[in-house]
Amino acid sequence: MVPGTRLLILGKQGAGKGTQAVRLARHYAIPHISTGDMFRAAVRSGSEFGRKARKFMDAGELVPDDVVIGLVQERLRENDARYRGFILDGFPRTVLQAEALDDMLPDPGIELVLDLEVPTDIVLRRLASRRVCVECGTNYSLENPPTDPETCDVCGGKVVQREDDTVSAIRRRLELYEEQTAPLIAWYMKKDKLVTVDGVGHPDKVNERLIRAIDRRLRRGVEA
Ligand code: AP5
Ligand code: MG
Ligand code: ZN
Repeated sequence: MVPGTRLLILGKQGAGKGTQAVRLARHYAIPHISTGDMFRAAVRSGSEFGRKARKFMDAGELVPDDVVIGLVQERLRENDARYRGFILDGFPRTVLQAEALDDMLPDPGIELVLDLEVPTDIVLRRLASRRVCVECGTNYSLENPPTDPETCDVCGGKVVQREDDTVSAIRRRLELYEEQTAPLIAWYMKKDKLVTVDGVGHPDKVNERLIRAIDRRLRRGVEA
């Protein structure tokens, strides 16, 4: 892969963006930038910013565009993202955010957008069973719990259910996905940057599919 590659992963809530982005970040040695993780860290820190973000998140609403855009802009200015590239997870989520992202990046902007496709009935099941480490963000589920159900295998942090994994917040998040985020699929397709990858199956299999899709497309970019 070309150094400095800029990737983006799209998909419904529970499609496995976080799960896969962590693995891709390790595989390609690029930072994983998740706006959801950044907001959850702010909530944990107890800052004023975190308190404001929490109100939106717990209700399943989107944090206002200007707030998210400012946060991402600052993060992308850091050296690791500037020189090594990144994988963005959870941003952009609206066309306005996607336009702002284009303005933040040097040409050719985002190089490849991965759309992780999973049917709604499966994401609902995954979200109901998800458990996360509050310290490092590692994902678990009722089918794949840590050795001690309340303690993270990776860092020893507390493993809990996310505050927004309630029935009403999940319904609202999926509604907003259809209204605000799904239009990005057509938007990136028009720019010939989109690759759709089947997100159903064992996470290792999904990971192999993603790596194959990325390597194929980015090699094409180099040869072109
Ligand atoms: P965010 O943290 O981004 O949450 P989300 O969009 O709701 O997405 P999820 O994290 O729920 O899903 P995921 O696709 O990452 O799935 P995961 O890998 O965990 O955002 C949270 C909130 O922050 C938003 O609602 C909003 O308020 C705010 N926010 C964030 N970004 C924003 C933005 N840009 N603009 C405005 N507001 C913003 O997987 C789910 C479960 O499935 C896990 O238990 C996992 O173990 C399991 N799993 C994963 N893959 C598989 C598989 N292949 N087979 C079986 N199980 C699997
Ligand atoms: Mg996530
Ligand atoms: Zn942990």
